[in-house]
Amino acid sequence: MRNFISVHDVNNIDAMVKKALMYKASPFADKTLGANKRIGLVFLNPSMRTRISTQIAAQNLGMEPIVFNVDKEGWAIEFEEEAIMSGNTVEHVKDAAPIMGKYFDILCIRTFPSLKNKEDDYSELYINQFIKYAGIPVVSLESATLHPLQSLTDIITIQEILNLSHQTSNPKIVITWAPHIKPLPQCVANSFAQWVNKWGKADFVICHPQEYELDDQFTNGATITHQQDEALMNADFVYVKNWSTYTDYGKIYCNDPEWMLTNEKMRLTNNAKLMHCLPVRRNVELSDEVLDSPNCIVTQQAGNRVWAAQAVLSEILQNHKQ
Ligand code: CP
Repeated sequence: MRNFISVHDVNNIDAMVKKALMYKASPFADKTLGANKRIGLVFLNPSMRTRISTQIAAQNLGMEPIVFNVDKEGWAIEFEEEAIMSGNTVEHVKDAAPIMGKYFDILCIRTFPSLKNKEDDYSELYINQFIKYAGIPVVSLESATLHPLQSLTDIITIQEILNLSHQTSNPKIVITWAPHIKPLPQCVANSFAQWVNKWGKADFVICHPQEYELDDQFTNGATITHQQDEALMNADFVYVKNWSTYTDYGKIYCNDPEWMLTNEKMRLTNNAKLMHCLPVRRNVELSDEVLDSPNCIVTQQAGNRVWAAQAVLSEILQNHKQ
């Protein structure tokens, strides 16, 4: 693996999950693998979990992490080719990225979509420019359309629960849309769909109001329904997430509070585990009673971000050694 941008960069999801769970059991098993190497964590947008977990993962492998919050501390970066830079942007990614390539051995980037220009967002303009100009391995800390470290974490967490329960049959996994006050990216839902579909070990259902169809390049293979009750029936895992509209891009259409997940709805499931990538707006997306219930595994899930990042960085470092 050179870059980690999507599930397509991973040959064997089960092997990655196994590696991550090995690191969870033995965090310092490869504590010298990244010795004398530096990793840049560059944030164009806010983060808590991704920032901290990736730093810990890098340190567990002996790397020195440097965090750069471009949105708060850096010069505003221009991404458009041949831009006349007479506006707010101060330096071009063509100039900034190669310098980062000199400072770091691995470059990790978080960018968000504009939610205004679907073509730019879905071409992954920002992260692809970093890949093009940095000249070193690039890891997505969430891009315009995908959040692969989150999705790997999600599969690790599901596998961990299945291992504990000794369940060998395919679980029913449901991702259900939830209301929100702001238009949010489709990244987490796109990415979760892409990973669960490639993993191929689930009865996978995507459930949302009619106007919230996702791009079928990610969802193909899943059952898609607009009936939340029907989707939740006998589910083993319920993943709650808001996203804005994809077709008429970046809008909020229906924001019906009836789509908020409650304990009453959870009673339709097979005593399902409740997942969310966080941060979550309580009593908008999910009720307090669901988030505070013993079936809620969001803290375990967020904790596993460390092991997902460590497995990915380890793969890149091992590949780099050869
Ligand atoms: N889930 C997630 O990516 O959280 P942060 O935005 O806090 O990194």
